[in-house]
Amino acid sequence: MKQTIVSDFYDLMIDRKMFSCKKNLQFKLNSLFANVKLAEKRVLDVGGGSGLLSFYAAAKGAKKVICLEPEFAGSTSGIINKFYDLRKSFPASLPVELRTLTLQEHLEEAAAEMYDVVIMHNSINHLNEEAAIHLLKNDNCYKAYLTIFEKVFRIMKKGGVLIVTDCSCKNFFNDIGVKNLLAPSLEWHKHQKPGTWIKLFKAAGFKNSTVKWLTPNRLGKPGIFLLGNSLMAYMTASYFKVTIVK
Ligand SMILES: C[S@@+](CC[C@H](N)C(=O)[O-])C[C@H]1O[C@@H](n2cnc3c(N)ncnc32)[C@H](O)[C@@H]1O
Repeated sequence: MKQTIVSDFYDLMIDRKMFSCKKNLQFKLNSLFANVKLAEKRVLDVGGGSGLLSFYAAAKGAKKVICLEPEFAGSTSGIINKFYDLRKSFPASLPVELRTLTLQEHLEEAAAEMYDVVIMHNSINHLNEEAAIHLLKNDNCYKAYLTIFEKVFRIMKKGGVLIVTDCSCKNFFNDIGVKNLLAPSLEWHKHQKPGTWIKLFKAAGFKNSTVKWLTPNRLGKPGIFLLGNSLMAYMTASYFKVTIVK
């Protein structure tokens, strides 16, 4: 039964043109959730957009998935409607719920130790863009993010995993002031290095961090071999994944 839902998930995502092809999407999701179990887990998808990761987590057997999508900074207009449209294509029993709240609002209402897995997929720098820009230069900005992460720590179970993806500002094209054709619309000044986020997570109580440099899905495993290191990431899109544990 679960396998059918996973297979329906892939068919739907390709059918709705949310991803180029099944093989690339499988590669992406396997990279993102490597060593993270979703079955029977409670999952929070922060700034989850149209819910691709939330639906995947539920299809993989998560007990409950909350997708937070306030349609704020960094979002595409109409994304909430897109979520609801997709929701109708899955069985009503699939435990995915959209909350149109910011993370900051959800943190005020969520009980302690609720989540096993928290995902911030390309949303971390949008949580407070002004603070993300001045994180290293301004104490109040640093504290604004630290406060968010301390509250995220509170709502996670012991042993729970936080997964974060974003582009690092440390990029060759950003450094020489030339448009990066792999990420032409990226506002580099709104991004931080993975190490900067890890320092903050650790200050909030998290431990055992790992950093992976993500490579184009279409290149599959050879792509990891050729490009999945800090130097090649610096020369390309500097797209990273951090995992860290409560
Ligand atoms: C670049 S999009 C990423 C969407 C999706 N996770 C993806 O990777 O396709 C960033 C998302 O973060 C959301 N967002 C912005 N501020 C937020 C906040 N304070 N709390 C939760 N989500 C927020 C935006 O509405 C937007 O959908």
